[in-house]
Formats: sequence, structure tokens, C-alpha cells
Amino acid sequence: MLSQLTLLNLRNISELSLQPAMGINLITGDNGSGKTSILEAIHLLALGRSFRTRSLKNVVQFDQQQFQVVAKIKAETPVGLQFNINTGLQIRLNNAPLKKLSELAMQLPLQLIPANCHQFFEQGPRYRRQLLDWGLFHVEPSFNYHWQSYRKVLQQRNSALRQRKKVDEIQLWDSHLALHGEAINTHRKKQLGLLLEHFEQVFPRLCPEFRDGSFTIKYRTGWPKDLLLEAALHSTIERDRQLGYTRSGCHAADWSFRVNELDPSEVFSRGQQKLFFLALCMAQAKMTEFVNHQNSILLLDDISSELDQDRQNNVLNELATLPVQSFITTTEIEGKIGDEIELFHVKQGVI
Ligand SMILES: Nc1ncnc2c1ncn2[C@@H]1O[C@H](COP(=O)(O)OP(=O)(O)OP(=O)(O)O)[C@@H](O)[C@H]1O
Ligand SMILES: [Mg+2]
Repeated sequence: MLSQLTLLNLRNISELSLQPAMGINLITGDNGSGKTSILEAIHLLALGRSFRTRSLKNVVQFDQQQFQVVAKIKAETPVGLQFNINTGLQIRLNNAPLKKLSELAMQLPLQLIPANCHQFFEQGPRYRRQLLDWGLFHVEPSFNYHWQSYRKVLQQRNSALRQRKKVDEIQLWDSHLALHGEAINTHRKKQLGLLLEHFEQVFPRLCPEFRDGSFTIKYRTGWPKDLLLEAALHSTIERDRQLGYTRSGCHAADWSFRVNELDPSEVFSRGQQKLFFLALCMAQAKMTEFVNHQNSILLLDDISSELDQDRQNNVLNELATLPVQSFITTTEIEGKIGDEIELFHVKQGVI
């Protein structure tokens, strides 16, 4: 959870300070006023990268040399990020330089719900794996170790394949890859089961027409299901040598939902798709709190796109019950805003 957020020279914002509520923070303002830039700043603070640009130079206010984002985590731990066009990115956590970005990500479990999140279903398996692994990173202490190790070994095996090394030299990596890959697979399967349990409760509240729906998850491990990973790697070594990379493994895993036995990407409306993605993120947040006693941060950009007033209210009502600090942007507010919502209005980069 964040408090005392300050932004300096970021996009169209010269200087902005706000004291966010622990629950729902609703940021309103006209197009181009700076709403998404505030979300971008929070994203930067938690993850060290923007969701809008690869080059942080674009985030620095025109005519300036650097931008800054400063806040406190749980009202006590100071965290600050500065990007200078000449000297690059610096992050300080608790008044000391940050060693690894994962240290910060661990303290600030953050999920972004972009305005186009209904496109979730059109994204490739990589995106779905990332979503699943985000949850594991926050609830399963050994996951990060296995995931990092898996990636390293996979790179080494792929590099051996590219160099057309002999079969026995390539297979040197297989037992290590299989060890971490099987662990990741076990965690993913368990996580998906839990995710489904939470999702089944949340989604019908956001989207009442699915009150009596049946939900199932299909999971593909990334290698033939009747084989252990090591055996799968052995059996496809010649194909891998021809391709020059390792095709099977948990980097090829994928998962999808079925709602009433149907594929939601084929039958859901855009609004339903958005609510679906929101329910997934909310389910992840519930699990993170349940297992790790950590409140998540949820950035919801443009709540009004694709959602009618009733569904927006469903989302706000659900958020009010969740262990989540949310930052939500919208251009317009219709209806009455409850006491549980802290309202901020931005006008040309000023709150
Ligand atoms: N590096 C920069 N320096 C100054 N201004 C910038 C910079 N980059 C973008 N801007 C401007 O900052 C403003 C804020 O953009 P932002 O995307 O935050 O607006 P928004 O309130 O989310 O609008 P919308 O409702 O259209 O999504 C825009 O007018 C944009 O053109
Ligand atoms: Mg915006």
C-alpha cells in the first residue's frame, strides 16, 4: 500500500502530491489531463518500468532533465525513483539503493488493468503465463528461485543447440531444466486450481448473467502430458537440434477458461471480457492476501470504457470488499459517489 505520493516533472505533471486512501482512489479529469500518467508513475515505482513506453526519456517532462516519483510503503518505508536523461534510473528503498527490482516488486504487489484489457483473450500464451506467474511470485516463496534458474538453464541449453553441440553436451542441461520445470509446473497447476475457486465467486458478482455459470480451466504443461519433462526433452532432442531451440518445457505452457463449456473469447461481449479480466485480477489479489497477508495495488485505467453504469458500480462495490488499494481513472462520474471512495480531480497536470 502506498501513501504520500509525490510526482515531479513526469509527463504533463510538474509537481503533484496526493495522500491516497487505503481503499479506492478515483481519479477524474478531462482527456489529456494526466490521469494515466499518475498510474504510470505508480507502476514505475513498483516495477521500475512504464506500461506505456520502453524508453523512460518519453516520461520526462518536455524541457526537463529528469523525473521523480516518491512515496511511502505502508506509511513507513520510503521509496523513491528518479530517472535522469544523462545518468539513467536510480531507485532507493528505505534510503538505500535498490539491488534488485524484484525486491521492490515483492513489497508492492501491483496489477495493471489497462483500458484495452478486454483484449486479454487475443493476447498470446506468454501474456497468460505472466499473469499466472505474477500470482505465484507473490504467494509461493520458492517460485522465483525455480523460475530464474529455469530461465538460465534454458538459455544455456538453447545456446548449446544454436552452436550445434553434440547430443550428450546438450543433454547435460536436461536434468536441471527438468528439475526446475517440474517444480514450476506443480506450482502452476495448484495456483490455477485456487485461482478458479476465487474467480468463481467474484465473476458472477461483476457479471450477474453468469450467476449459474460453470467455469473450468484448461491447462497445457508445455510438453506431452504422459511424459515427465526430462523424458520429453530426451525424446525430442533431434527436433530441437534442427530448430536450434528447446521447444518443450514450461516456457511453452498455456491455460484458458471455459465458461459453460464455451471459450469466452468466442462468445463474450467486450464488456464481459473486461469484467472477466477484472475478476481474474481480483481473484489474484484475494489469494495474495490470503496466503501472504499482503494488500495488492490495482491500477484500473479508464473504468468507463466498455462498461455500463451498473457494471461500473459492481466493480466499485466488489473493490470495496477486497484487500486492495486501487487507483481508478475515468473522464466522467455519473451517479453518487459513496464514502468509501476518495476522489481526486486532475486538471492540466494539477490535482
Ligand atoms: N514527456 C511529456 N512531457 C509533457 N507532456 C507530456 C509528455 N508526454 C505526454 N504528455 C502529455 O501529458 C498529458 C497527459 O496524458 P495522460 O495520458 O496522462 O492523460 P489522461 O488524463 O490519461 O487522458 P485520457 O482521458 O485521454 O486517457 C497529455 O496531454 C500528453 O500529451
Ligand atoms: Mg488516460
